[in-house]
Amino acid sequence: MADKKLRKVSLKELSEKVDESLFENPMFKKEDNNSYGHFSSIIKEIRDGGENTHLIKIRPPLFYLSGFFSNLTRFLSGTESFKIMDNERWGKREVEHLKRLNPDISAETTPFDNAFLVEKIDGSVVFDILDSNTISNEKKKEVIGQIVKGLRNIHEKDLYHGEPTTQNCIYSKKGEIYWIDFEIEYHEDLTDDEKKSRDLEQLTLSILGAFEEEGEIGLDDHELIGLIFDSYGDEETISFFANNPNLPLIGPYRIYQLSFKSGIRFYQAQYTLLEYLTEYNTE
Ligand SMILES: Nc1ncnc2c1ncn2[C@@H]1O[C@H](COP(=O)(O)OP(=O)(O)OP(=O)(O)O)[C@@H](O)[C@H]1O
Ligand SMILES: [Mg+2]
Repeated sequence: MADKKLRKVSLKELSEKVDESLFENPMFKKEDNNSYGHFSSIIKEIRDGGENTHLIKIRPPLFYLSGFFSNLTRFLSGTESFKIMDNERWGKREVEHLKRLNPDISAETTPFDNAFLVEKIDGSVVFDILDSNTISNEKKKEVIGQIVKGLRNIHEKDLYHGEPTTQNCIYSKKGEIYWIDFEIEYHEDLTDDEKKSRDLEQLTLSILGAFEEEGEIGLDDHELIGLIFDSYGDEETISFFANNPNLPLIGPYRIYQLSFKSGIRFYQAQYTLLEYLTEYNTE
């Protein structure tokens, strides 16, 4: 990917390429216009005139409505994280994190505060990889190890993700992992250990949620959590997490919506994680 260069797109070029109606419609349909994204943002493919395909991630003006409700539910559930409402800060944070963590990926802010550009990664989101029945269990375990190591790498750079779910990382056709979507921040007064534990909690639940039933890849949930923690490898953070297992769950509605196929599995995953942490403490 390093050979592809992203051109800085001027306001004029950008406005020519971006359909203005995208900015007006908050509930954009995925099927239309090669676009993806869930609720609060629109992602549209954009060509630079050459061979490269880039993505433009846009926050429509009505984002404020969904952002407000998202933060309200976070607040009501006692969650200590929030969606970044300030568009300028949002775009800058995403672009900076993408570039710092993935030096081979191009990303640029644009003259619009509510839009930035990122190179399209050729691959699939990890949720789809784990859900696929054409990929072996061994390969799935390997991918799990890779995404968890990717989170550790983020933490080692003194950064955190905020919403590390299997929908927010991409497994490329070359077998590399790219973390994306850095639009959630934790409250500033949390310590680094608290932020890292919350990231680890969220990713663990999200991985468990990718499987409809326990044992799907030949590991029971305890073994799967063991694989996740071993791959993460930082005993200090894991032990901090185990000593503080009752952290308020991060964005419970959001994590359920993005990572789980059934409510029962969601409660089972939370219960097993708590059990695992308690056992970890008594060992
Ligand atoms: N650089 C990229 N390359 C390839 N696919 C991408 C890239 N960035 C985003 N995507 C795809 O678009 C989806 C949504 O992107 P992203 O996670 O950044 O937005 P989002 O904030 O989750 O959207 P929403 O807030 O609307 O739920 C991703 O799950 C992924 O499938
Ligand atoms: Mg996302």
